[in-house]
Amino acid sequence: MTAALKQLAAQLPKAELHIHIEGSLEPGMMLELARRNGIKLPYADINDIINAYNFNCLQDFLDLYYQGMSVLQTEQDFHDLTWAYLLRCHQQNVVHCEIFFDPQGHTERGIAFEIFMNGICSALNKAEKELAITSKLIMCFLRHLDEQSALSTLQAAEPYLDLLTGIGLDSSELGHPPRSFCKVFARAAELGLKRVAHAGEEGPPEYVYEALDLLRVDRIDHGNRSLEDTVLVQRLVTARMSLTVCPQSNLRLAVVKDMSDHPIRKMLDLGLNACINSDDPAYFGGYMNENFDAVIDATGLTRDHIFQLVSNSFKSSFLTQTEIQTHLDHIDAMR
Ligand code: HPA
Ligand code: ZN
Repeated sequence: MTAALKQLAAQLPKAELHIHIEGSLEPGMMLELARRNGIKLPYADINDIINAYNFNCLQDFLDLYYQGMSVLQTEQDFHDLTWAYLLRCHQQNVVHCEIFFDPQGHTERGIAFEIFMNGICSALNKAEKELAITSKLIMCFLRHLDEQSALSTLQAAEPYLDLLTGIGLDSSELGHPPRSFCKVFARAAELGLKRVAHAGEEGPPEYVYEALDLLRVDRIDHGNRSLEDTVLVQRLVTARMSLTVCPQSNLRLAVVKDMSDHPIRKMLDLGLNACINSDDPAYFGGYMNENFDAVIDATGLTRDHIFQLVSNSFKSSFLTQTEIQTHLDHIDAMR
């Protein structure tokens, strides 16, 4: 029974809306790029890296995530990273992706905007031509840095605005509430950019309200802790607000204790517009289909839930209504 559901999830076309491209850096590529660029890492081999991926909370992960991305130096590095992710998408029937990147994680190390923009975008263009995968780019601000740094980053990105669909907010959530980023989100809105924000991963429901009311977001990334507030849940349902949920991330960062406690099924049954995503697949044990497999095994999802999740992934995307309908028609034809 679960084998048939996993096969169905694997075969259906899907959109991924919550993937940090730097979080798709596999241990093997990390070592290879470190060697290529003469960068010292505190790991002797792949097993050392995998053994280090033992996280108790978001910050434990972020410390290794920022260390890992230090091997990304050249346009070719960013291209190779992005292309490797897109090949995984192709293998897993992810036909559209909306990719986060963390410019401040690179500019702070002296890497110029044009290096990562050219590297990432050349891979996205190649994937559209050769793999028929469409994509959008979302530039995230690191919330452990101040709003002035985010505003400067947005200004530095102005020559690349045509390549960007939206902005996001990520990194250490607790102590860095959405309300600290009102100005930069307002400026992004003036520039015609979509807005998303991580909220309610570790932070309280209050942060989800702030993302909605103060940042005026189009989607909430994670949003798990919204479930603690029934008024908020009702509001999210009524607004058809998208939640980009990341099951394996939630387990590895102790947002849930056990995968059987994961709220994805409950979210759907409450009428929330949730979809499945991998977040940082190289760090959390899998890409899109492994995330489906994990929740199918642990939470008793039905065939209808699977169809709902993949349909939600397209409905929540920043594609046009016509493009979304084309994908939904393909999904319906597989019912
Ligand atoms: N949460 C916050 N920031 C992040 C994450 C996450 O799951 N992944 C990469 N940056
Ligand atoms: Zn994330």
